[in-house]
Amino acid sequence: MAGTGIGEEYQRLVEEIQSCTKCRLYKTRRNPVPGEGPVTARVMVVGEAPGRNEDLQGRPFVGAAGQLLTRLLELAGLRREEVYITNIVKCRPPGNRDPQEDEVEACLPYLLRQIQLIRPRLIIAVGRHAARRLLELAGHRWQSMGAQHGKVYRGSIAGVELMIAVTYHPAAALYKPPLREKLEEDFRGPIARVVAEIKT
Ligand code: URA
Repeated sequence: MAGTGIGEEYQRLVEEIQSCTKCRLYKTRRNPVPGEGPVTARVMVVGEAPGRNEDLQGRPFVGAAGQLLTRLLELAGLRREEVYITNIVKCRPPGNRDPQEDEVEACLPYLLRQIQLIRPRLIIAVGRHAARRLLELAGHRWQSMGAQHGKVYRGSIAGVELMIAVTYHPAAALYKPPLREKLEEDFRGPIARVVAEIKT
């Protein structure tokens, strides 16, 4: 649309997400969580779905998993403020259950529009829900987190050429401490290398 900046389009998208009723999750959520960060970000983090704290505040990754995510991003040479952070599903599933297939599909157009507007060079997919769907969209096969964490894939999503780094969800490391080492290695190693590449 002539004369329409990214900012206005982004704002419209946020408002659509905030009033969305496309799947059952709108009935139980308190606040939808569209995402946050600069629309000029080169790096996007995509998680699973808002948890209790995120649902209360309407902001992504603000609980314990979010604090760990902020530290992991620093290991990769990123400040949280320079990254766009969102989820594959924008509303909290009741009791933090896994998002269902139809909920992921109903919400996917919002993520695709976020990718089209922000045009990230790198998406860090944290957890199997985001990793599986994003890899499939980019034409790669999903196998398992054990086999694919720490790998970086190239592809195109919504017409945007980008890289997808796969890693564990930070919340998983809170419950299973041995995973924390693997997460830290992924951020300190392969993810940091891609970040250095796209920052130059
Ligand atoms: N877990 C997620 O996947 N996303 C959030 O925003 C918070 C916790």
